[in-house]
Amino acid sequence: MKGLILSGGKGTRLRPLTYTRAKQLLPLANKPVLFYAIEALLDAGISQIGIIVGDTHAEIEAAVGTPEEVAARWGESVAITFIPQLAPLGLAQAVQTARDFIGRDRFVMYLGDNLISEPLRPLVTEFAAEDCPYHCRILLAEVPDPTQFGVAEVEAVAIRADFSDALTPLRVKRLVEKPKIPPSNLALVGVYFFDQSIFLAADSIVPSPRGELEITDAIQWLLDHHYEVHAQQLHGYWIDTGKQADILDANRQILQQLTPSTDPTATISADSTLHGVVVLQAGARVENSVIRGPAIIGEGAIIRNAYVGPFTSIYHDARIEGSEVEYSIVLEHSSIVDVHGRVEESLIGRYAEVTNSPIKPRGHKLMLGDHSRVGLIP
Ligand code: G1P
Repeated sequence: MKGLILSGGKGTRLRPLTYTRAKQLLPLANKPVLFYAIEALLDAGISQIGIIVGDTHAEIEAAVGTPEEVAARWGESVAITFIPQLAPLGLAQAVQTARDFIGRDRFVMYLGDNLISEPLRPLVTEFAAEDCPYHCRILLAEVPDPTQFGVAEVEAVAIRADFSDALTPLRVKRLVEKPKIPPSNLALVGVYFFDQSIFLAADSIVPSPRGELEITDAIQWLLDHHYEVHAQQLHGYWIDTGKQADILDANRQILQQLTPSTDPTATISADSTLHGVVVLQAGARVENSVIRGPAIIGEGAIIRNAYVGPFTSIYHDARIEGSEVEYSIVLEHSSIVDVHGRVEESLIGRYAEVTNSPIKPRGHKLMLGDHSRVGLIP
């Protein structure tokens, strides 16, 4: 079994942050989303991983690192191959691009901005077996707005004893990509199990109205040609981290799983208080402040005369001073200084400065990137 992670794509819904950074590198609890995908595959016993990269390839490759860095971070047996996709022409086209890497193997395709709580190991073990009776497995999850996703029309089937309790097996009747009138509220999760038949399917379909070879259409082709497609409904969380609210929610979910720790090089002054699960990374400094977890404070970050509330990730070298921040992600080298009123539900990009302005006339003085959004207290 191999793993294929898709890490191209422009992340238009996360502008302006994604003008300068690949969406798969946005950190959740101070770790890039992409690393969760890599680790989900490694946890399932898959150590040969291809990553499809597009325009942002240099950044993705730098973050994942050289073969030596990969071995140091994830183990000697782990091999990561970068596969360039010359144009973002769809998920099924990405599969075609990976044909040489996949060879004759079966594989799990994982969209690099997706996050699921379900461990993949039982599914991978079943799919890797010689006598596995099906060609493709998809995972489905209930969503409030199915028009944004691939959607499945399904029938429930009897639960087999050997399926995990958390997953309900379903029979797929039809799949449609981003339907105006959805046949159900079950969206296709960005984690797919394929054998060689998917290459034939991808070669046989035509581009969708948005000009892409859709993986949803390729799986529909398998259904139409009587290949066995298994589907299961996820009951744990699934987050497609494509939008700000989703990123903050994913950050919340991950922070909830942390165990408290303080790096030996981090410092906490005697007049500071930490409540609940708080992780302080190397060189973090907390002075005269209150941190209420779950929260993570990154390497070299400074929290001074401040309050950091639950579900907050402060990335490396950021500074929170004389201010209150809660349910937010603050990226590296940014600062929030002497701000009145709590900063909440916010995603602050890199090298951003949020502060009071003493310059007259009094008023909000903003310099915001394209597509920025600011919510001021009325
Ligand atoms: C893609 C797939 C869609 C799936 C979604 C999951 O959508 O085309 O079927 O439900 O990923 O994240 P896209 O991110 O390309 O809009």
